[in-house]
Amino acid sequence: MSAIHIDETAGSDTTGRGTAEQPYQSLGVALFTHGASASFLTRKDSSGTYEEPTQSSVKKAKKTAEGLEKKRKKADELERAEAEEKEKRQQVLEQSRKIVLVEDESLPKASKAKIVHLEPLRSQRVRVFGWVHRLRVQKGLIFIVLRDGTGYLQALLSGTSTQTYEALTLSLESSVELVGTLQAVPEGKTAPGGHELIVDFWRLIGGSPGGDDAFSTKVNEHSDPSVQADLRHLVLRGETASSVLRLRAAMLSAFRQSYATHNILEVTPPCLVQTQVEGGATLFKLDYYGQPAFLTQSSQLYLETCLPSLGDVFCVQESFRAENSHTRRHLSEYTHLEAELAFIDFNELMHHLETIICETVDILLANPASAALIKQLNPTFEPPSRPFMRMSYEDAITWLTEHQIQRPEEDAEGNVIKDAEGKVKMVDHAVGDDIAEAAERQMTDIIGKPIFLYGFPAELKAFYMKKMPAKDGKLTFTESCDLLMPNVGEIVGGSMRIDDMDELMAAYKREGIPTEPYYWFTDQRKYGTCQHGGYGLGVERFLAWLANRYTVRDCSLYPRWPGRATP
Ligand code: 4AD
Repeated sequence: MSAIHIDETAGSDTTGRGTAEQPYQSLGVALFTHGASASFLTRKDSSGTYEEPTQSSVKKAKKTAEGLEKKRKKADELERAEAEEKEKRQQVLEQSRKIVLVEDESLPKASKAKIVHLEPLRSQRVRVFGWVHRLRVQKGLIFIVLRDGTGYLQALLSGTSTQTYEALTLSLESSVELVGTLQAVPEGKTAPGGHELIVDFWRLIGGSPGGDDAFSTKVNEHSDPSVQADLRHLVLRGETASSVLRLRAAMLSAFRQSYATHNILEVTPPCLVQTQVEGGATLFKLDYYGQPAFLTQSSQLYLETCLPSLGDVFCVQESFRAENSHTRRHLSEYTHLEAELAFIDFNELMHHLETIICETVDILLANPASAALIKQLNPTFEPPSRPFMRMSYEDAITWLTEHQIQRPEEDAEGNVIKDAEGKVKMVDHAVGDDIAEAAERQMTDIIGKPIFLYGFPAELKAFYMKKMPAKDGKLTFTESCDLLMPNVGEIVGGSMRIDDMDELMAAYKREGIPTEPYYWFTDQRKYGTCQHGGYGLGVERFLAWLANRYTVRDCSLYPRWPGRATP
């Protein structure tokens, strides 16, 4: 047998084979691998020659080899124990299949209830259905937090209930039926609703996978945003996402309540339209039985037609914007709360808006369920105080300049100008400039309270807006207002509308809008015109403000943004 080679410098204990070409690095590993009967040759490095190891180095190497042997034995033992454990678990699982739970008919009849309705049923037998939201197995007991969409319920399984095959393989997000006695939790302990279900019978309705497909492996706070977007249907099961949606429902209901107290009627305008409201650049176009049509950008024009028939109206309708905006406050489809009011002036419009918003917030805070959601999602929320601050567009331009909040300089084509190093050139705002999202948000965040920004130049605004009485300057300003909220920026856009026929005709012409498709809108000026105004509120933006969410994407059930229409 040829000798085993060890080169203490160039050898390797992982890839070495003991040949002169592939020596080991340490004598210990060589000894452990080939046994004491082999003969060994060592050298310090390639400048030396291979020689038999000294006695002392053999002694040292023996110790290393013994340590390695011990380690190997331990690993073997562990492997064996694991195999045994697996086998044992397999046997337990086999045995568990024989255990069949049967509901005890001699017990008092259980009443079926949703979790939110359980409190009056304390000390009684109840039957609840839901999903396993949390699961903990401890000392022969199974603790479940059940979720049924109306709330969370802690449940305790013990005895044979924990020994069935279903119990041993139960996983998060499985759907189950739980039957048992509802007990108030002892003093000093907490549980959702203040009670706990002591289960005496339960049934698995639909299992949920473990392993790589397990719910908690797929959906967790570390998963990639695009994965979370693909798995929105599962993300929605989480406590935060579902609370946001629950608050959204409460918020819409509170808005409806506020409108009802002011005799403003809800209507449902169409989504498929053949007219634009907010400019052609953001229209989603489609073929409608061979004719061009669009997805609505705003229901405003339809609401205006309702005034002579139904009086003041509002709607909650989806609006669509084909803008390539990837910001945290833009969606391609959003829920638009719009209202239109007849025989009002600009001041009354702003006063009404502030009233509706504050009354809606008051309703939400007065209701314990929605107040708790706001507290959970936005613990430091303070209802805004009235009247909201009012700031004219021209004053805002001055404010921005004074606070050195600048805008990127643009060339004649509207392209951002960069210097030689690729840095964007910033310049002061001037009257006539659009106040872009970044500047608007900076201003709102510094001021830290709702702001009515009003009186934008006509050039920056939609065709239908009523002009302010002319001033000396070249620019014409409009009776328009945006409501800006801290953390979000613009949440409402509103204005008084052109009510004069000639003025409207001139506006169509200025914007290059063909009058023909708008005949029904124009007719409002022909058949008894009236001074009127209205607004649109972005539901997701309002919710982002109320629930302190970073992005409107978290405030929509299934948000759509450029490139995303799934799930
Ligand atoms: O300012 P906007 O474009 O106004 C209108 O559409 C008017 N016709 C409404 C009316 O007077 N009836 O949009 C109104 C509001 C904005 O303030 C914003 O909150 C929201 O709609 N909004 C969007 N929300 C999410 N994603 C988008 N892409 C949005 N565009 C507007």
